[in-house]
Amino acid sequence: MNTVVLGGVGARGRQPGGPGAAPSGQLIDVAVVHHGAVGVAGEDLVSWSMTLSKELLSGLGTRWAHVQGVGVTAGQLAAELDLGADVDAVRGAAWLHDVGYAPSLVQTGFHPIDGARFLRSHGVPELVVSLVAHHTGAEFEATGRGLSAELAVFEPPPQDLLDVVTFADLTTGPDGATVAVEERLREILHRYPDGHVVHDAIEQSSPSLRAVADRMQARLPRV
Ligand SMILES: [Fe+2]
Repeated sequence: MNTVVLGGVGARGRQPGGPGAAPSGQLIDVAVVHHGAVGVAGEDLVSWSMTLSKELLSGLGTRWAHVQGVGVTAGQLAAELDLGADVDAVRGAAWLHDVGYAPSLVQTGFHPIDGARFLRSHGVPELVVSLVAHHTGAEFEATGRGLSAELAVFEPPPQDLLDVVTFADLTTGPDGATVAVEERLREILHRYPDGHVVHDAIEQSSPSLRAVADRMQARLPRV
């Protein structure tokens, strides 16, 4: 295994001084299979995404458990769908979709944008970046946070690919357990009080998130 240098904005891993203690550009102890390079393709991209996400999120309560559930679910969905050459980008994005929660990556405070900025700055394939930026109704919360322009620098990905990442997120609870979409929406609304930007965004995005579930059910009759 190699160690890859992720230079630039917020590129930090675990440091002796605690989260965020080191300046950007230091080594992040990301184990990369085969090559110590960002932007690897194929299964390397999935493995790299998994490893980076664990590195960034495993210290954040149940976040890593949630992401593991999303990553596994997306992999199962991808195995049943014909995603062609995009399969690894979708799987990688599922593992990376919440990296913007890592304290060292926070810029705007909105995790899809912060995660996408970090990934783009390190040469991750643009399809992965756009899937992370736009996952799970991000445009609604970006509007609520006054960050629509910041989100708009990321091209919306193909809807059928975004649906896979969003559906995996919507069917995975905070602890990684599989949940129904309605249960997931209720849980988020309960976790964030009325008037909170996340609560309001979920209320506004619920119809479109349910539409994601409907489209996925049409693609996967077993769901
Ligand atoms: Fe998530």
